[in-house]
Amino acid sequence: MEILNGKKLSQDIKAEIAEEVKLIKQKGGKIPHLAAVLIGNNPASESYVRSKVRSCDFVGFESTLIRKDDSITEEELLEIIHELNTSDDVDGFIVQLPLPKHIDEVKVTLAIDPKKDVDGFHPVNFGRMAQGLDCYLPATPFGIIQMIERYGIETSGKHAVVVGRSNIVGTPMSILLSRKAKSGNATVTLTHSRTKDLAAEVSRADIVIAAIGIPNFISADMVKEGAVIIDVGINRVEDESRKKGYRLVGDVDFDSVSEKASYITPVPGGVGPMTVTSLLMNTLKSSRKEIYG
Ligand code: GUN
Repeated sequence: MEILNGKKLSQDIKAEIAEEVKLIKQKGGKIPHLAAVLIGNNPASESYVRSKVRSCDFVGFESTLIRKDDSITEEELLEIIHELNTSDDVDGFIVQLPLPKHIDEVKVTLAIDPKKDVDGFHPVNFGRMAQGLDCYLPATPFGIIQMIERYGIETSGKHAVVVGRSNIVGTPMSILLSRKAKSGNATVTLTHSRTKDLAAEVSRADIVIAAIGIPNFISADMVKEGAVIIDVGINRVEDESRKKGYRLVGDVDFDSVSEKASYITPVPGGVGPMTVTSLLMNTLKSSRKEIYG
């Protein structure tokens, strides 16, 4: 069994990006600039955004954090998005989700200029991804694909089972794995809360992508010997022995499943760091004005 070390891999990729930034600086080019909009004070969102800003600093990108109280109106948020869309300085930006209930997430996503949508959430990017056209891939699926590629994991002809059909992870992951492309060509089953016998579906998988948000949901008895296990879950569970009062666990019961897996991602230190790296890669792509070929 081999651990898919997302932490180490993301550090390697960040080092490569930092080298590129150095070259851009030497040539007097424009430094890539990522902006993040954070509304309210959801602790998980704060932690993710902090990590995104820190990663920008690490690779030498410029970053701007726009923090607003959750009393912000939808109109005010749309105005901020308009300013970011039209800014010559900002190459790409994200609006951290979830948003307060009184703000329509779909409306917000649609307001972002697809050329600056480095999260890859806009339907233009999603549609282009589905058709195999140049686009920004959503950060988490992009990170998983990077990981699969760099570890040399074969996907062609394999049976991949994706657990969870979210717009951010499960659905795009199912599309990417089935594409006629590198790290694609898999036969994909997309499972969800209405799937009749989830355990039976997962047990047939050569590759499992777990993205349901339920701690330790995938147990050893559900997985095939030698399966590749990608755990997207980042769940906080109470733990009085920790200083913070909680610890992070994935959607996969790591201790038991790792004994049957050929490759497995840990939580933390697996998919999570790769997600941030993908966002940096998309921002670099945006600053190069490469998008849509
Ligand atoms: N909330 C959870 N994951 C993400 C993400 O990748 N991007 C944004 N914008 N919000 C999120």
